[in-house]
Amino acid sequence: MTEQVPVGAGVTVGARGLANPLRDPRDRRLPRVPDPCAVVVFGITGDLARKKLIPAIYDLANRGLLPPGFVLLGFARRDWETGDFEAMAHDAAKNGARTPFREDVWRRIAESVRFIPGSFDDDNAFDLLAQTLIDLEATHGIAGNAAFYLSIPPAAFPLVLKQLARTKMADNDERGGWRRVVVEKPFGHDLPSSRELNALVDEVFTAQDVFRIDHYLGKETVQNLLALRFANSLFEPTYNNHYVDSVQITMAEDGGIGGRAAFYDSAGAARDVLQNHLLQLLALTAMEEPVAFDADALRVEKLKVLGAVSLPADLEGDAVRGQYAAGWQGGERVPGYLEERLIPPHSRTETYAAVRLGVETRRWGGVPFYLRTGKRLPRRVTEIAIVYKRAPHLPFTATDVEELGRNQLVIRVQPDEGVTLRFGSKVPGTTMEVRDVAMDFLYGEAFTESSPEAYERLILDVLLGDATLFPRHEEVEMSWRVVDPLEEYWANTTPQAYPAGTWGPRAAEEMLAAEGRSWRRP
Ligand code: BG6
Repeated sequence: MTEQVPVGAGVTVGARGLANPLRDPRDRRLPRVPDPCAVVVFGITGDLARKKLIPAIYDLANRGLLPPGFVLLGFARRDWETGDFEAMAHDAAKNGARTPFREDVWRRIAESVRFIPGSFDDDNAFDLLAQTLIDLEATHGIAGNAAFYLSIPPAAFPLVLKQLARTKMADNDERGGWRRVVVEKPFGHDLPSSRELNALVDEVFTAQDVFRIDHYLGKETVQNLLALRFANSLFEPTYNNHYVDSVQITMAEDGGIGGRAAFYDSAGAARDVLQNHLLQLLALTAMEEPVAFDADALRVEKLKVLGAVSLPADLEGDAVRGQYAAGWQGGERVPGYLEERLIPPHSRTETYAAVRLGVETRRWGGVPFYLRTGKRLPRRVTEIAIVYKRAPHLPFTATDVEELGRNQLVIRVQPDEGVTLRFGSKVPGTTMEVRDVAMDFLYGEAFTESSPEAYERLILDVLLGDATLFPRHEEVEMSWRVVDPLEEYWANTTPQAYPAGTWGPRAAEEMLAAEGRSWRRP
């Protein structure tokens, strides 16, 4: 790949052709711009494409991070012309863009959009797509570079992959340039099916060209977890089972299942979020220092953690699932899961899952990792809380420290991105009363630049060929090893109902109370 370096006011040169003697190639401060290329989105009319992918592409263009010669190709079963696609994409970008929407920026993207109508079993449509990519070499100088984004139901993956193989689009040896595939989660629905899917993807693409998206890894605050741990010396000495009592990882959503009834009912909270986002957060929280900040070094450390995860011997009591019932949220009455459109009236799919895991390493042995996720909870919040042990001895009276909790280091992933440190402090006055206070770092206040959306970062990384923030297939398989026994245990149980707008089923509170702990109320 020829690295492109933006020079001065947006002029771009190939670094290989014109080396910049002042630039250290390891210096990552200058934004990198990918080579001219095409992004082909399968399922371009779906929710993900409209709400996340198209706005992210617009934001990248607006930030000057897309190469000249960039082409966006939509593929879907719609009787559309390119003009219809352009109109839809314009509105999607305008509604979803993070950066200010500017018609002149959009016009530059609009000049290079193409739409190919067709179903996934339509050979002619795929032949046309292959020919279009060849034509774009002459018209847009894409030199054979293309990324295929599978924003489609998992059941359709095999068919599309086979079409990419049949038309030789996956393999670009003859024409040069790179071909990459982006696979959205879920990667299978259990270990055997994820292995099958991985085998199929590996048959069609070489491993380094496969990018599995877990968009949590694209969030700035998730990456900050690594900065916090490995760029500072303050936390490391206490970051272990000598000082840490427990870890709580929460991903709560106030919304319901939206328009995704069919997918959600077949997945549930554990497959939708715990298997991927929560276990990735656990891996980053618990891993040892990687030897470098690159894809291979990170994978090695994350794999060690995922391989060391243990489930409670008796899942009863330590693995809880729930389903929201009708309730009040934001002053409004909202329907229960079973009343949602297209959800079978007797569905036993969970919308809440919580589990107590262990990480069997010298650093973490004996420290419980409590993970929870749920829909229709009181607020949307994702955080990782490191809860410390109480001081072994307190030279105060019991009443002085009545309101003193455990020290906590909280990484606020979203919203209010930042970090909080909670510790005890003397209440002003003549008595020695000690109470919890918080010290806050807020991204919004500390930096003038706002954080890019996860999808902006990840799409750019795909086009640059940087796999650092993408889980490898071994990680996906390890994660299924954790979730499969839970699913098996839950298969014959009914999830406990919780009213919408509350923090989940009572059993989840009891799970922690049984060990003298309680969930944080973020
Ligand atoms: C997706 C899940 O991966 O993450 C959704 O499939 C969930 O169910 C979404 O709503 C949440 O993402 P975020 O970035 O809004 O926390």
